[in-house]
Formats: sequence, structure tokens, C-alpha cells
Amino acid sequence: MSNSPTQIQLIQPDDWHLHIRDGEVMKDVLADTARQFARAIIMPNLKPPVTTVDLAKAYRSRIESNLNSLGIDTFTPLMTLYLTDNTSADEVRKAKAEGMVAFKLYPAGATTNSDAGVSDIKHCYAALESMQLVGMPLLVHGEVTSSEIDIFDRESVFIDSVLEPLRKDFPELKVVFEHITTKEAAHYVRDATTGNINTLAATITPQHLLMNRNAIFAGGIRPHNYCLPILKREEHRVALLEAATSGSSRFFLGTDSAPHAKDAKEAACGCAGCYSAFNALGLYAEAFESVDKLEKLEGFASFFGADFYSLSRNSKKITLVKQVQSIPNELPLGNTTIVPLRAGETIAWSLV
Ligand code: NCD
Ligand code: ZN
Repeated sequence: MSNSPTQIQLIQPDDWHLHIRDGEVMKDVLADTARQFARAIIMPNLKPPVTTVDLAKAYRSRIESNLNSLGIDTFTPLMTLYLTDNTSADEVRKAKAEGMVAFKLYPAGATTNSDAGVSDIKHCYAALESMQLVGMPLLVHGEVTSSEIDIFDRESVFIDSVLEPLRKDFPELKVVFEHITTKEAAHYVRDATTGNINTLAATITPQHLLMNRNAIFAGGIRPHNYCLPILKREEHRVALLEAATSGSSRFFLGTDSAPHAKDAKEAACGCAGCYSAFNALGLYAEAFESVDKLEKLEGFASFFGADFYSLSRNSKKITLVKQVQSIPNELPLGNTTIVPLRAGETIAWSLV
């Protein structure tokens, strides 16, 4: 590490998996993201979920008016629709025509605001057929939901019971295995043989590159380190870090930054989601530096996602410096507050 750089320049990154919510809180979280990223894939799990093109267009207008009032004209939201048992082939065609970039599959009950999710993927075959045909990516929350399956096994069981059959049935469908958390998922994507191998990719969050499941229980229960899919054992973190820093274009940045108010996290039944948007790039830089692979950050953060979505790469450059940044204990979130990832601690890298 002695030769480690103290400054790196890269093409401005995009966040390929982001929750910004709605209403008053949206403005606060948008500002954090837009400081670092040029574009972000906006997740559709609002209450009620964004299940139609009309709802997605209305959501996009609300985002744009918040960006306007923040004076930000350098950030583009990329809109997604929430797949349900009833999504029609026609809605998929309409989504494509209206510039929506993907559909998101939430198995019903898998995570925050997923009650309206898919009960059985077989119900979605007409929509998936249409997505494959028009080149509309499917983003998957890759966990089975059945309560008999141990929470630490839900992702690996999903691979065998849902993902592999899906890849066989729709070999040309573009699939992003979102926020992967296990060695099994990293290796499944790395070694993909089922379907057209150029149609499979995965996003990885900063928390899954930097922490293992001990972080949820360090000295007591740590609700701000609880997200879904849940942090796993150290061997899984190591496999994810290896995948992210491998230079393989199948792995790219998706923070899954998922804001929940402080009191909704610090509760008897606290919400799942880590708020990493405050200095996500600093967190990723730390992770890559920990294995001496800072030179692989630009591909992961700035190129591979755009290439997968067939969007142009950004052209503006940004600079990260090795300069310790203190992370506040709390940040404003509408009329309440939020506790960011690393609250009260420091991050080794900062955006200039
Ligand atoms: C996300 C949220 O809060 O919307 N929570 C999370 O723990 N990641 C939903 C999700 O992406 O699973
Ligand atoms: Zn998410």
C-alpha cells in the first residue's frame, strides 16, 4: 500500500440502484446523490408502487421539479417500473417508447414496500417475453421470501429456484442481479453459462464490500447496518470485493442507498436500508484501496453500467482525494433526520 495514490481522477460515475422516496424527503437525498453521480436508476418501491408508465412519468416530473428548486441541472434520473403479477406486455412496450429504462422484480414480501410484488414469476411471462423482445432490462431483488428459508440463505436459494430457470426461459433478456451479497451470487454472475452471457450483470453496494454480518451486532444491535439482502459472513464480503475489483464488466456500482428516518430504524421493528448516498464514492474508494485495486474503480463506477444499459458513458471528470472526511451523526431528512452509513466516524476518501 505504500505506493497508493493520494488522488484519483475518474469519469463521473452513475448509481445504478438508488432509492430517493418521494415528497419532502426526496430533496434532501437527491442533493447528496447529485453531488457525486451524473445519473441514477430510481427504484419504484414507493407507497403505492410505480407500476405504470403514467405513474413513472408523474414521479419523474416530481423529481425534476425538486432538481429545479435545488438548482441542479447536472443530474438525470433514469426511471423504472415495478413489476407485478398483472404487468401487461403492452405496458412494457409503452414503457420502452416513453424512455423508461427497466422493470424491477420484487418477490412479494422480500423487502421494504414489496407487498405488491410478484407472487410467482410464472404470472409475469407475457411481460418478460415482451421485455426480452424490446430490450428492456429486468432488475431483480434476488431473494426468496418463504419464511422457512433462513434469511442468510435466501439469495443462494433464489439463484437455483428462480434465476437459473428464468435465464433458461429468457436467454436474451437483460437481467441485473441487484445488490448481490454472497459468494454464490458473485460466482454465478462471473461464471454465467446459461442464456446469452452478455445479458447478465450484477450491482454491488458499498456496505456489502466493507462490512460483514458482525457489523449488525457489534457491541449491541446496530439498526443502521441492517439492510436487505442482509450482510453475510466475511467469506462472502471477500468474494464480492474480488468480483467488484476484478475488472469484469459484469459487475458495476449500485449503492442501494435506501433512506429511512432515524426513528423508523431505531425501533422495535426497524426498517431495512442503509443510507450511503452522503459519501458513497468515498466508501467505494476505501473498499477498492483495501485490496490495492483503485485503478479498477473507474470501470466499475463509471463505465460498465452505462455499457450494459446501452447508454453513453459520461464525459465530465471528477477527482477523489485521500482526505479524511467526518460523517455527521445525523442529517436532515424532510422534517425529521436520518443516520448515514458511518455516522460519527470517518471515511478515508472525499470528492473534491
Ligand atoms: C430498500 C428500501 O428501503 O427501499 N431496503 C433495503 O434494505 N435495501 C429496498 C431494497 O432494495 O431491498
Ligand atoms: Zn434497493
